[in-house]
Amino acid sequence: MSDTLFHVLGAKQFDRATLDELFAASGEMERVVREGGSTRFSNKILTTLFFEASTRTRLSFESAMHRLGGRVIGTENAAQFSSAIKGETLEDTIRIVSGYSDLIVMRHTEIGAAQLAATVATVPVINAGDGAGEHPTQALLDLLSIQKEIGRIDGIRIAMIGDLANGRTVHSLSYMLTNYRNVHIDFVAPDNVRIPLEVKRYLVEKGVSFEESSDLLKVAETADVVYQTRIQKERFFSLEEYEKAAGKYTIDGAVLDAMRSDSIILHPLPRAGEIEASVDRDPRAAYFRQAQNGLYLRMALIEKCLS
Ligand code: CP
Repeated sequence: MSDTLFHVLGAKQFDRATLDELFAASGEMERVVREGGSTRFSNKILTTLFFEASTRTRLSFESAMHRLGGRVIGTENAAQFSSAIKGETLEDTIRIVSGYSDLIVMRHTEIGAAQLAATVATVPVINAGDGAGEHPTQALLDLLSIQKEIGRIDGIRIAMIGDLANGRTVHSLSYMLTNYRNVHIDFVAPDNVRIPLEVKRYLVEKGVSFEESSDLLKVAETADVVYQTRIQKERFFSLEEYEKAAGKYTIDGAVLDAMRSDSIILHPLPRAGEIEASVDRDPRAAYFRQAQNGLYLRMALIEKCLS
């Protein structure tokens, strides 16, 4: 990774030095927000182009740009309210939007869409989620949250639970964790949504220890981080397949009882029943703090891409 970032397309492009730098800059951005924001990028425009639904990613990027003094254009429903609905190709859309703004944040339904956009963009493209592929900025804020909550990332045991086949956040987080020493990952998933082979191959190549398990309570006992994810109903081809996976692993009082007192629960959110609401009262429930970190991390990322 060079001193500056241009496109942010996938988790594998990040090295340890860049991660350390981004997390330090995120701490600085937390101070900037506390002190009322900055006018640093008052001459810059960010486009958010979302072909899939989002609350956190789109709004935190937009808030981040506003907090840095910049302006935002875009559409939260690009599939319907951009000229894609008239048949315009993604490449043509990106060529046009490159001329209107300084940075493009895009979420798309198709794996590889951000890479395709980057082939024609003349401004940086940030992948805000490409189908069941990757979500690198979520992985960045997940690692920032682990650093802040646990005080380190080296040496952690993390249990990733839920829809590990379609959950793009776990793909990016697994890739990014290869930058850290002595990490162990326990993957816990229903049989029809297990962690993809390509993720496991990459972990083997990078020497990261991992296991697949079906015993949530057992892995919860030793985990520093319990990383729960939603079963992604919208990615299943049949309701029957979805129902095989849904409701199998839930974070509830029994899981809290099994967990260590110094561990945490993360979730990229939104949740759809896989963490009981009563868990929110436990101080180990860190997922709302995690979402807040997304603002600071994305401010730091915008600064790096535009500098
Ligand atoms: N975590 C995440 O990507 O949330 P949104 O889908 O709301 O952006």
